[in-house]
Amino acid sequence: MKPILWITCKLPEEIVEPLKSWADVREWPTVEVNMPHEKLEEIIQEADILWTIMDNRVSRELLQTAKNLKLICNLAVGYNNIDVEAAKELGIAVTNTPGVLTETTADLAFTLMLITARRIIEAADEVRNGDWTYWGVNHLAGRDVHGATLGIIGMGRIGEALAQRAKGFNMEVLYHNRRRKPQAEEAYGFSYRELDALLQESDYVVVLTPMTPETKGLIGKRELQLMKNTSILINVARGGIVQEDALYDALKNGEIWAAGTDVFVQEPVSTSHPLLTLKNFVALPHIGSATLRTRKEMMEMNIESMHDYLEGNPIRHRVV
Ligand code: GLV
Ligand code: GLV
Repeated sequence: MKPILWITCKLPEEIVEPLKSWADVREWPTVEVNMPHEKLEEIIQEADILWTIMDNRVSRELLQTAKNLKLICNLAVGYNNIDVEAAKELGIAVTNTPGVLTETTADLAFTLMLITARRIIEAADEVRNGDWTYWGVNHLAGRDVHGATLGIIGMGRIGEALAQRAKGFNMEVLYHNRRRKPQAEEAYGFSYRELDALLQESDYVVVLTPMTPETKGLIGKRELQLMKNTSILINVARGGIVQEDALYDALKNGEIWAAGTDVFVQEPVSTSHPLLTLKNFVALPHIGSATLRTRKEMMEMNIESMHDYLEGNPIRHRVV
């Protein structure tokens, strides 16, 4: 009997079709709507392999209801949507997609810095809405990225790739990380800072840490107040790392100059979210790794893990 592979989102036909030679493939049918949690509760009971996306909340309680589940492949580098400790205890392997999305996500982080600093969304909307009626000396004037100080919180692979880009813009690069990286400091001239010092000194603060109990709510009222009132906060990691209500207050009160984020506590974000009323806030719909090539490589990486499992080999890209 072929193992049951449940795919919780709609993936391209050319990816899914070949899997049918070895798996009993069952898939969520629509692109426009993600699988609701009730459906996940139902299908986890029959799956041998579960192919998940960040949107799926795979809790301990949910895992305990699984009868045959042996492998979860998460189509993301982050895996805070899965209780990996519980998976480990239950003997369920979990894999992710590190590496292949590093450069693509760093591109997006740098893009978000640029579009937030230069007010690109406001500017483009002005043209489209027919509001481009004059040239004003400080109209839509933003802030320079080149030559500014970049502070990276979470110096993993993506952080290093972002720092390389910053070098090309003559930026000074500061970083804060659980672990210091003397080699990168030496090789590229990055400087380590304690979190408070990084917040005080940086013109751009980019959040790139994984979401863990330690980083949840890491950037709140106190941290935002430490930042310069000319500075810009960028979050391309996970929504809950920056406290959204504190960010709203800081942007509204001019404690920081602007913010750009690719991630929210609740995704998709509601159009009535207070942050979306602010002109100095740029929102993107979690597209950090969204290029055609990178998404294909992420899917292929998950499939490698499945093949390893199937053939009884050590499972590559395993988190637990
Ligand atoms: C995206 O957010 C990922 O973790 O891959
Ligand atoms: C993710 O790949 C990271 O290490 O930043």
